[in-house]
Amino acid sequence: MKPSIVLYKTIPDDLRERLDQYFTVHAFDGLHPDNSAALEQALQQAEGILGSGGKIDETFLQRAPKLRAASTISVGYDNFDVEALNAHNVLLMHTPTVLTETVADTLMSLVLASARRVVEVAERVKSGEWQGSIGPDWYGVDVHHKTLGILGMGRIGLALAQRAHFGFGMPVLYNARRTHQEAEQRFNARRCDLDTLLAESDFICITLPLTDETFHMIGREQLAKMKQSGILINAGRGPVVDEQALIDALQNGTIHAAGLDVFEQEPLPVDSPLLKLPNVVALPHIGSATHETRYGMAACAVDNLIAALTGTVKENCVNMQLLEK
Ligand code: DGY
Repeated sequence: MKPSIVLYKTIPDDLRERLDQYFTVHAFDGLHPDNSAALEQALQQAEGILGSGGKIDETFLQRAPKLRAASTISVGYDNFDVEALNAHNVLLMHTPTVLTETVADTLMSLVLASARRVVEVAERVKSGEWQGSIGPDWYGVDVHHKTLGILGMGRIGLALAQRAHFGFGMPVLYNARRTHQEAEQRFNARRCDLDTLLAESDFICITLPLTDETFHMIGREQLAKMKQSGILINAGRGPVVDEQALIDALQNGTIHAAGLDVFEQEPLPVDSPLLKLPNVVALPHIGSATHETRYGMAACAVDNLIAALTGTVKENCVNMQLLEK
């Protein structure tokens, strides 16, 4: 008999067919407790789950007593309680490589859009304000040859450093736990402490995951250490930045602008003050959202679940130590 799994996100038909070859698939739209009795019944039997979003913690694991593997269609896994998964011997699979270049593109687009005020002035054109040659109140600031500071030097940080160095002639600073030889040798990146990065960067790009250590890593004190002309870009996770402190810093001119793909609460509440600020570019968490990359992530997540439930895991496993037991 094929193992039973719960699929809680729609995936392309060919990938769904691949899953069907290996598993009895029960498909649902999300994992909310009030979804349906059918979901609860499917979870009771499920050896695997595949999807994205939703909190996967001890309470959830009680609902899925036979679970052996969870495969998330994302690189980030802050919605999973890894300790609880470990205690229940559940493998956690994610998609760390397929989205790297796309998320780096998103970061660069936020840098450009924030500096050159692309969204704001495009809106002015659409609303008929472009009546003659434009003056200084439409101008932005340069990106090329400015200093880019990167928080976190993982795969995405490295791909961003490559773009900044070769494409824009930007000196690159980074703050990370370890020295990154490749970033230093190929892109001339310089590792520095957080205060130096805050003080010297024109653009600060957050590529960090959300952990206990990174929660509110950028707060009032750190924003005050940035250049007044500085621009903060976040495409990591929203809670890495204290959002209220950021709103205050943008409102009172402590920093110049922000480009944000992630927020403390997503979707961003419609009454968020961020939406009223002209110096904010706000995106709906599109980091990896291209047709090609989202397909690649779903395909990777499918392969990951097959590997996890057939005992052939070689990569993409967050808690690989469970396999060594
Ligand atoms: C991820 O995969 O964690 C990204 O945030 C998706 O854009």
